[in-house]
Amino acid sequence: MKKITIIGAGRVGESTAQILANEELAHEVTLIDIREGVARGTALDIQESATLFGFDTRVTGDEDPAAMAGSDLVIVTAGLPRKPGMSRSDVLDANLEIIRGITADIQRHAPEAIVIMVTNPVDVLTYAVWKQTGWPRHRVFGLSGVLDAARMASFIALETGFSIRDITTLVLGGHGDSMVPMSRYTTINGIPIAHFLGQGQIDRIVERTRNGGAEILALKKTSSANDSPAAAVATMVNAVCNDRKRVLPCVAILDGEYGERDLAIGVPVVLAAEGMRQVVELELSEEEQRQFAASVAQVRKDLAALSNS
Ligand code: 2OP
Repeated sequence: MKKITIIGAGRVGESTAQILANEELAHEVTLIDIREGVARGTALDIQESATLFGFDTRVTGDEDPAAMAGSDLVIVTAGLPRKPGMSRSDVLDANLEIIRGITADIQRHAPEAIVIMVTNPVDVLTYAVWKQTGWPRHRVFGLSGVLDAARMASFIALETGFSIRDITTLVLGGHGDSMVPMSRYTTINGIPIAHFLGQGQIDRIVERTRNGGAEILALKKTSSANDSPAAAVATMVNAVCNDRKRVLPCVAILDGEYGERDLAIGVPVVLAAEGMRQVVELELSEEEQRQFAASVAQVRKDLAALSNS
């Protein structure tokens, strides 16, 4: 890809820019942040690691949204992070205003770009960007299940002692307390997880996955996770940049799939050069359907707040 812009040079934006540069996923990675000098300083810092990581990607920074001009892909991380004890939905009002302004900037300066949303509450804000731009849904999607499934895989590796390389997990639903870790689709080299772990162990891992973000926030106190979200975003970007047709759980706009439309929520999708190529519709068990429906209800509750704001 020619150019990728990351809006928000906070910890997630910075970690994401470093990975994208290291993997040379674009000729140029631009950081944009309204705080004077922050994007430029962060970009220069990453650029100075180029010879050590061996990348030729140019990393630039600016306060001016016009710096995103020519971007093929825009990643939105800007917004207020939640504080310990807050849910992701608690920052909806504050972040909605921020995202509305950023969306107008993207429409103006990068009207052809694919948009990957990271700012929380990511399901609702992905919907807000899609609605405001009116762009086709393949160009607007968000980070959720790639991060949550990665956490679930880590917890299973820690519990079993097996290599992370053999662990496959899947998480659907909203990127919040109502997410749906799918233990039925969780395997170790194709072997169902129930072969290795008892139901109690699985239930504890599912619960820890749901609270993955909050657990880190409680420990770090002044900031949310940034390394695992950045790695998850970079995985999605890599799938798009290299047209990999990867099947990954992301926040996508539903248009009838899972019996829902006019909603953004975490589902398995195919990521390819054009962005979100298609939604993969699974046969859910009764219990999975119940949990997914509860997650839909939670996201729709936030969506209702959107239309009132
Ligand atoms: C997380 O789960 C920030 O939503 C992100 O850590």
